[in-house]
Amino acid sequence: MAGERRGAAIDIAGLRKLYLSGPARLVALDHIDLRIAPSEFVCIVGPSGCGKSTLLRILAGLTAPSGGTIKVDAPNWAVENAMVFQESGLFPWMSVEANVGFGLMTRGVGAHEAAARVEAALKLVGLTRFRQHYPHQLSGGMRQRSAIARAFVTDPAMLLMDEPLAALDAQNRIILQAELLRIWEQTRKTVIYVTHSIEEALLLGDRTVVMTAQPGRIKQIIDVPFARPRDPMTLSASPEFGRLKLDIWRVLEDEVTRARHDEEK
Ligand SMILES: Nc1ncnc2c1ncn2[C@@H]1O[C@H](COP(=O)(O)OP(=O)(O)O)[C@@H](O)[C@H]1O
Ligand SMILES: [Mg+2]
Repeated sequence: MAGERRGAAIDIAGLRKLYLSGPARLVALDHIDLRIAPSEFVCIVGPSGCGKSTLLRILAGLTAPSGGTIKVDAPNWAVENAMVFQESGLFPWMSVEANVGFGLMTRGVGAHEAAARVEAALKLVGLTRFRQHYPHQLSGGMRQRSAIARAFVTDPAMLLMDEPLAALDAQNRIILQAELLRIWEQTRKTVIYVTHSIEEALLLGDRTVVMTAQPGRIKQIIDVPFARPRDPMTLSASPEFGRLKLDIWRVLEDEVTRARHDEEK
């Protein structure tokens, strides 16, 4: 891809986030310490409400932390990141290529360069033939591909992904996981990827961060030792994969139970 900015290193220290609403005080994140190497793919799993989206929003510069520091070794990192959400967030009145190019236009990239970068991003996700389509003419998988192209087109130093494949059916999810692996191997962006799925974390990431139920802290960080390039179907059928999945579930299980009890209170 054009640009080819390498992935940023990220250093999060003592990060804390309080939400205040009237007299209520909610500690969403507490004592988050995490160092991420350039071009690393880090996955975050944790029960719902443990602050995963809050952490991504803080990293994106969309929400201010209440304490702690974040260092990113990219000069202008607040605009050098890109987010992908569960819902594609495409503008329904714009074609795929207009959606993908929109962020370049708002950044003042010239038409000639923008066209070349949109072309490369569409090629990267395999959507070249669908460039003139509108979001409602696409399948869910193709909409998420468009969202991924839109994120990559700005050549971000870090990519923040919040359950980007969670709304897809199982077959599409497997296909998109394989695509993401291929794209990441080609581009080597630093990725922080939130997922509900331990399997997905193990298929995609270099490390899996398990968070506690609220207040969200890091409970454990697990190295994912599988060689790359990875083939999702083959890897997920291996005994090593099954063992690690169970290990991580043991770490996560108590937190999921605790989060459920908190919800029922
Ligand atoms: N803007 C906000 N104001 C108040 N509370 C919030 C806000 N955003 C999130 N929260 C609360 O913070 C906690 C963490 O939310 P979130 O980061 O969305 O968790 P996750 O993505 O892990 O499900 C939840 O209890 C949620 O209700
Ligand atoms: Mg969330």
